[in-house]
Amino acid sequence: SIDISTFMKQTGYTALDQGFVNTASTRSEITYIDGDRGILRYRGYAIEDVAAKSTYLEVAWLLIYGELPSASQLAEFDENIRRHTLLHEDLRRFFDALPHSAHPMSVLSSAVSALSTYYEDSHDVRDPEQVELSTIRLLAKLPVIAAYAHKKSLGQALLYPDNSLSFVDNFLKLNFGNMAEEYEVNPVLSKALERLLILHEDHEQNASTSTVRLVGSTEANIFVSISAGINALYGPLHGGANEAVLKMLSEIQQSGEGVQKFVERVKRKEDGVRLMGFGHRVYKSFDPRARLVKESADEVLADLGVSDPLLDLARELEEVALADDYFVERKLYPNVDFYTGVIYKAMGFPPRMFTVLFAIGRLPGWIANWREMNQDPNTKIGRPQQLYTGPETRAWPQR
Ligand code: ACO
Repeated sequence: SIDISTFMKQTGYTALDQGFVNTASTRSEITYIDGDRGILRYRGYAIEDVAAKSTYLEVAWLLIYGELPSASQLAEFDENIRRHTLLHEDLRRFFDALPHSAHPMSVLSSAVSALSTYYEDSHDVRDPEQVELSTIRLLAKLPVIAAYAHKKSLGQALLYPDNSLSFVDNFLKLNFGNMAEEYEVNPVLSKALERLLILHEDHEQNASTSTVRLVGSTEANIFVSISAGINALYGPLHGGANEAVLKMLSEIQQSGEGVQKFVERVKRKEDGVRLMGFGHRVYKSFDPRARLVKESADEVLADLGVSDPLLDLARELEEVALADDYFVERKLYPNVDFYTGVIYKAMGFPPRMFTVLFAIGRLPGWIANWREMNQDPNTKIGRPQQLYTGPETRAWPQR
């Protein structure tokens, strides 16, 4: 590859690349993807190994610091995060001011943005100690905020974090525990959720990570940069697809139209309808995460003793689409979001929480990218060009 900006400057051209289909915005050492061969690696480690052998916090360390942690580094990191889970009491009350019908993704981004008001000490992005502290605070508090967004939508009391529990178990308790009874973590559920979070931890320059970098390139603090990333993730063409898949499956089920007819409507692009959870800007053979998620779906549903007709519908939809020239020609395969919703539903999360779970998963990747950008001496403020297509100079009318 060549440095396009130097080339363009020399030749006097501006490249128009809508959607940045072929423009690299940065160099990065964090995540490698080969979309044609379905390869995904975190810092050089295959996603299949990472998902099978690691934990959410170990992968977070790997992504943020570049190497696997030693046992003592990981223990200290874990301990540090447990110590920072509490939210300021005023921030806890912040949730009272929002309507209980609020989408949890809006609640999440607002509360993460609000964190910057509580930690004004974090605003010096050049101070490594403050960046370190903000990293810990974000990892510790995002799951708590997410669980509060969930509890708020149910009209239930917010619980305090239980720091005797692991990261994932604490999150499950905050979501599904209540004040009246002891909550016992289901290990199957905990393991499955940890695996899904790991699979989402980074995915190079997707829309939300690029947003985090773009906002961060202005030297805005890490809380507001990540709040912007959460908003980018919200859309149904990005992280919001996991919620949209379940909505699509439920609609197909309720309408009784059948998979074949629905697929025909997609192919006719009727009302712009798309097969949600299918297609990817980078993967043009298969999404390796989707394969692992599909395995998890089978395991989790079997372990929990849940049989969900929506999973059968998803399998049928995949089979029909993969045998259809429309999808084959366009290289459209299931992406990571296709089966996650079915698993989250079996775990007891409402569809509106699905993208929030994605956000918790992606947080380490956003932090790693923000920090890499912040440490890179070549970073410049992100400022794309445009090709102006409006009117030439016009005389202001006499009125
Ligand atoms: N269903 C039906 N047709 C599709 C789909 C789909 N899911 N995705 C793409 N296509 C078609 C387009 O209509 C287009 O067809 P055409 O050539 O006849 O016009 C062709 O495939 C290329 O599509 P683009 O939109 O140009 O592909 P792009 O790379 O820009 O989009 C995207 C990628 C946004 C993921 C797209 O595939 C999509 O909308 N998928 C559904 C939403 C989804 O699942 N998003 C999650 C992505 S993964 C993630 O963010 C974690």
